[in-house]
Order: sequence, then structure tokens, then C-alpha cells
Amino acid sequence: MNCNYFGKCGSCTMYNYDYEEQLHKKISSIKQEFGLKNIDIITSEPKNFRYRAEFRIFHDKDGISYAMNDFDKRLLKINDCQIVSSLIQTLMQRVLNLIKTSPILEKKLFAVEFLTSTTNESIITLIYHKKINDEWGKVAKEVLSSLNSNIIGRSRGIKLVVNKDFIHEQLTIFGKNYKYKLLDSGFTQPNPKVNQKMIEWVIENIKELPKSNLLELYCGLGNFTLPLSKEFKKVLATEVSKASIKSANENVELNKIQNIKFVRLSAEELVEAMDKKREFNRLKGVDLDSYKFSHIFVDPPRAGVDEKTIEFLKRFGYIIYISCNPITLKRDLENLNNYEILKFATFDQFAYTNHIECGVILRRKN
Ligand SMILES: C[S@@+](CC[C@H](N)C(=O)[O-])C[C@H]1O[C@@H](n2cnc3c(N)ncnc32)[C@H](O)[C@@H]1O
Repeated sequence: MNCNYFGKCGSCTMYNYDYEEQLHKKISSIKQEFGLKNIDIITSEPKNFRYRAEFRIFHDKDGISYAMNDFDKRLLKINDCQIVSSLIQTLMQRVLNLIKTSPILEKKLFAVEFLTSTTNESIITLIYHKKINDEWGKVAKEVLSSLNSNIIGRSRGIKLVVNKDFIHEQLTIFGKNYKYKLLDSGFTQPNPKVNQKMIEWVIENIKELPKSNLLELYCGLGNFTLPLSKEFKKVLATEVSKASIKSANENVELNKIQNIKFVRLSAEELVEAMDKKREFNRLKGVDLDSYKFSHIFVDPPRAGVDEKTIEFLKRFGYIIYISCNPITLKRDLENLNNYEILKFATFDQFAYTNHIECGVILRRKN
């Protein structure tokens, strides 16, 4: 990939390598860090792989332009970005050109967020350092209508939705299509092509294991839950974000899946509920004792799994751990020393950066 901003824009830190080289470097460091010889390597498209992106807006005498932090955290003006989806690339300049025609849209515009899907739908969120009101909404609707996109305006404590605040995504997992509703807020996987391969990797590597019920923590909007539910008799999936659980419940309906129950509980609350230390209204109608969990699936944020939840994981015969931070993954695996690694994979979700996603399937030794 040949980007004009390589070496200047602070987003792509591994700018001086081509795709294969940057991947090789990351894989070598993971192998060394975890003391592993054989790991599965899941590659990304070399460009246009990021389906969500946020750009700062730079205001100067020439008007407005997109900007990213440079390596010294100063704003660097940019016109284009090659790692974002083709749809974001197309929309970027069109959005800016339209905003420039309207002072109410342009003034105090702080950042622009794009969320796109494999079905070519988009949400564009304009974030302001000023209070926006219905007048802003009217103008945004008129000026930006030709984009055929969903427009949202945000300023401190205010969210104005011009058309709708969700889009649909479709993932194909071993030939079967799954539909998801993605909200403007709440976690979504940035690289859908790698995401599909990640879900298939998990399914492929648990196929032959004895399975009954699955408990999932940090489930988001049900990204893994829906396809994994085919492999288990029953699934209980939990997550802290209200918005994500709302979409998860809609996604289960959308795909007509019967054996999943989503509950809004943090990992810490789930442990308390399982230990009958606390009762939750949110668990009304859910008989926790009716589940016979053979596997637990976790996909925590960068901080990894907290200490109490790690202790809780040790009750399960099989642990499936997806991690976006090898440092906390390593810490957590050291704590799970009574488990053997059956499979380990790296998923190159964040090409040209030092980040890499890992997946591990663990079996308790005794
Ligand atoms: C890396 S995302 C994974 C989401 C989902 N597995 C997916 O593939 O889209 C981590 C998720 O953990 C949730 N989360 C963060 N802290 C949590 C906690 N303490 N307990 C439960 N969920 C939490 C976030 O809201 C987010 O949805």
C-alpha cells in the first residue's frame, strides 16, 4: 500500500513495511511472547479493510479538512485514507464538500465518524463543539440528502438523528448468512472480513470437542453468539452495554434463532449471579441452574478479564478467549496455568499498526 501520509500520520505505526512484512513482524513477536511454535495466521485485505473510522476536523483560513494525530500528537491535515472501506473513502470528500456549503454544518465541527457495513450502508456522525438544535437537523437533512447515508449530529449531551441511527451488516459463516443490526454507538468489529474468518476459526476448532451449553461474557451485539449458537444446545450471553444488548435481542429475532438468551450483566455481576450472591431483576425468567455449561467464551476489552472473573473461568472445562491485547492475554493465560492451549491464532484486524487480535482455545488439564 502506498499512502501519502505513511511516516507522518500517527495511525499507521508500521508504515515502513509492506503488508506481509508487518504481519511477519507481529507474528514473530507473538510466537516469542507466548513461547509458541505453531499458530494459525489469519490475514487481512491489505487495504480498505477498516469499516469504521473517526477523523478530526481541522479549521484554518482555507476552510475545513480532515485531520489525524501525527506522531507528536499534533493535527496533520489529510485528504484520504487507504485503510478505510471503499465506501468511507468515497464518502469522505463528498461529505466535506457538502458541509463547506453550509455555515451551520461547518461551524465548530470537531470530528466526523463513519460506520459502514458489508451491505454498503453507512452512518455519518458529525460531532460539534457547540450546541446543535432542530434547525441544525433541518439543514443537515437538506444539505446531506444526496449522500444516501444516515446522518447523526452530536454535541455535549445531545444526539440528533436525521434519519436512523442503525444500519445492517451481513456476515457469511461457512456459507450461511447472518444479519446484524449495527448501532452508531456500542462496539462493532472494525474489520468485517477478518471478523468472518475469526468466527469460522472458532467454530472449526471446537467442532470435534464434546459440547453442551455455552456461556458467553462481553458478547456485544451477538457477533459471535449467533453463529456459535448452532454448535451448542443452549447459549447464555451477557454484556454490560444496554445499547449492545438491545441490538443483540433484535439480532436474535432477525435471524430467527431460538436457543440464545441475552442478559445485560457485566462480567462481575454475572459471577455474583452465578454464585447466588446477588439477585438481578434482569435475570427474571432465566433459570441459571438449567444450564450445563461445557464452554465459556470471552472477548473482553483491552484491559482483559478482571481477577474475580478469571477465577470464575477456572470452573469451565473449555475456555475460548478472543483478545485485542496480547499483553493482558498473556497475563490472563499465566493465571490460567491449569489449562493447555489446544489452538492459538492471530487475526490481523489492525494492519499497519502494532496491534493484533489473538484467539486461544484452552482445555483444563485435570
Ligand atoms: C472487544 S468487545 C467484543 C464484543 C463482541 N464479542 C463482538 O465481537 O462484537 C468487548 C465488549 O465487552 C463489553 N464490556 C466492557 N466491559 C465489560 C464488563 N465489565 N462486563 C461485560 N462486558 C463488558 C463492551 O461493551 C464490548 O461490547
